[in-house]
Amino acid sequence: MRHFLDLCAVEPAELRAIVEQAKTWKAEHKQAGHKRQESLPLKGRAVAMIFEKSSTRTRVSFERGIQQLGGQAIVLSTSDMQMGRGETASDTAKVLSRYCDAIMIRTFGHDVLVELAAAATIPVINGLTDRSHPCQVMADVLTFEEHCGPIAGQRLAYVGDGNNMAHSLMEAAQQFDFELAVATPEQLAPDCSFLNDQVTLTQDPNLAVHGARAVITDTWVSMGDKDAQVRHNLLKPYQVTTDLMDKAAEDAIFMHCLPAHREEEVTGEVIDGPQSVVFDEAENRLHAQKAILGWCLNVF
Ligand code: CP
Ligand code: NVA
Repeated sequence: MRHFLDLCAVEPAELRAIVEQAKTWKAEHKQAGHKRQESLPLKGRAVAMIFEKSSTRTRVSFERGIQQLGGQAIVLSTSDMQMGRGETASDTAKVLSRYCDAIMIRTFGHDVLVELAAAATIPVINGLTDRSHPCQVMADVLTFEEHCGPIAGQRLAYVGDGNNMAHSLMEAAQQFDFELAVATPEQLAPDCSFLNDQVTLTQDPNLAVHGARAVITDTWVSMGDKDAQVRHNLLKPYQVTTDLMDKAAEDAIFMHCLPAHREEEVTGEVIDGPQSVVFDEAENRLHAQKAILGWCLNVF
C-alpha cells in the first residue's frame, strides 16, 4: 500500500521519482495550455478529501489536479461527516475504501491520520496535520530546484516556529540530502525526533540564514494554536526582513507555504519583493500533488 503520510516513510528514490514526474507533468501541462486533453491516468477513479481544518491551496490544487488527471474529487468537511459526530477514523477509512481509490486528509492530530491509514485498504495522503505537511514540502523542493538547481548539497534555512512545516523540511533535508539550519526560540523548538544529520538547530536567525540559498518561514500561529500573544512575543526577533535576507546568499530566494501575515513573520517588502517565490510554491502544489497521487495509485 503506497500511503503518503510523511517524507521519512517514503524511500528517497521514490520521492525523487515523484519530483521528476511532477516536472514532466508540469511541462506537458504548460505546453498543452488549456487546449489539449492530457492523458487521463485517473479516469474512473475517485479521491475522497477530508478537511477538519481550513484550506485554500490544498483543497483547490488537489481538486484541480484530480480533474486534470481524469479522476473525480469528493470534498468532505468533517463538520458535515459522521466523523464530526464521533464516528472513528478507522470506520470512516473502511467505508471510504469501499467507494473510493484514495483518501486525502487534513486534520489536527497526527494519530487520526495514522488510524485512518491503518484501516484503509486504499492509499492515504497527509494533507497536513499538527505534526507535518509533506505535500507542501514536495512542492517546495520542486520550486527550489526550478529556481536554484538540484537541491542536494545546498544550504537552506527555516526561521520561526518549530511547527509542522519545520518538521517536514527537516525530513526533506534527510531524504533529499540538503543542509537545513533551523532557527526558533527555545520554547518553540521543533520536536527533537525530527532531528537528523542534515539539520542544525539554533536560536539565532542570523546564524541560520548565513550563506543559505533559501530562507523559509511560516505563520507564527498555526491552525489550532491558542497562545497567539505569547507566540508573537517570542517570535518577533525571527521576522524575515530585508536585513535578514541580506545575510543569506546573494541569490537567495524567500519561501513561505502561505497563508502569510505581512509584518508578522515576514515584511511586505520581502514577500512582495524580487526574491520571493511564494506564488510559484502555491502553483507547484498542483504539480507535486498530481505526481503524489500518481505514485500512490501506481500510474507512472
Ligand atoms: N499551504 C497550504 O497548505 O495552504 P492551505 O492551508 O490554503 O491549504
Ligand atoms: N503551519 C501552518 C501551515 C498552514 C498551511 C498551520 O498548520 O496552520
